[in-house]
Formats: sequence, structure tokens, C-alpha cells
Amino acid sequence: MIQQFVDRVPELDFLERKYAEDRAQMIIIYGRRRVGKTELIKKFIQKKRALYFLCTKDSLRENSRELKRGSTNYNGKRIHQRRSLHRV
Ligand SMILES: Nc1ncnc2c1ncn2[C@@H]1O[C@H](COP(=O)(O)OP(=O)(O)OP(=O)(O)O)[C@@H](O)[C@H]1O
Ligand SMILES: [Mg+2]
Repeated sequence: MIQQFVDRVPELDFLERKYAEDRAQMIIIYGRRRVGKTELIKKFIQKKRALYFLCTKDSLRENSRELKRGSTNYNGKRIHQRRSLHRV
């Protein structure tokens, strides 16, 4: 965790506005390496009900298993693992 989170006000405002909308959102955050994408996401979800999951370079099956585990820890319920996840 960083000592002091700097700036990112417009980005956080944008995410908050989208979050407040009454429908699902998919936001793609992209940028150069080490520019602060991950910190932005972590700051945004800090006081929200959120599940943060970072994929690894392991197999899709392994990632999907880890996601399932994370979601079970998060809400006590198991997510249904779709067969199609394994076919990519
Ligand atoms: N708003 C911020 N204020 C202060 N430090 C920050 C901020 N955003 C990121 N940092 C610091 O900059 C470094 C890179 O940040 P981060 O890991 O979020 O970048 P990234 O874009 O996700 O990188 P990568 O492309 O490697 O995944 C980290 O040490 C992080 O603590
Ligand atoms: Mg990152």
C-alpha cells in the first residue's frame, strides 16, 4: 500500500459517476506500465463491496478456479463455473 495516494480526481469522479448509474458497466482502464492503473482500481473499490481478481499467466482453468475461490470467500456462495470458460 502506498503512503499517500496522489491526484486521480477526474478518473475517480468518472468511475464514481459510472458506479452510480443504475445499470451494469464495463470500464476498460489502459495505459503505460507503472502509470497507476492498479492503484486507481484499488483506491476506487476501497470502501465498496468489491471483488478484486488479478489473472495470472496460468491456465484458464486455474484462473477460473481461483476466481471461484475468491468469490466464495467474498460472499460465501460459489459461482457457477461455465463450461465455455474452459474452451477458449
Ligand atoms: N495515485 C498515486 N499516488 C501515488 N503513488 C501511486 C499512485 N498510483 C500509483 N502509484 C505508485 O506507482 C507505482 C505503479 O502503480 P501501479 O502498480 O498501480 O501501476 P500499473 O499501471 O498498474 O502498472 P502495471 O502496468 O505494471 O500493472 C506503484 O508503486 C504505486 O504504489
Ligand atoms: Mg497493474
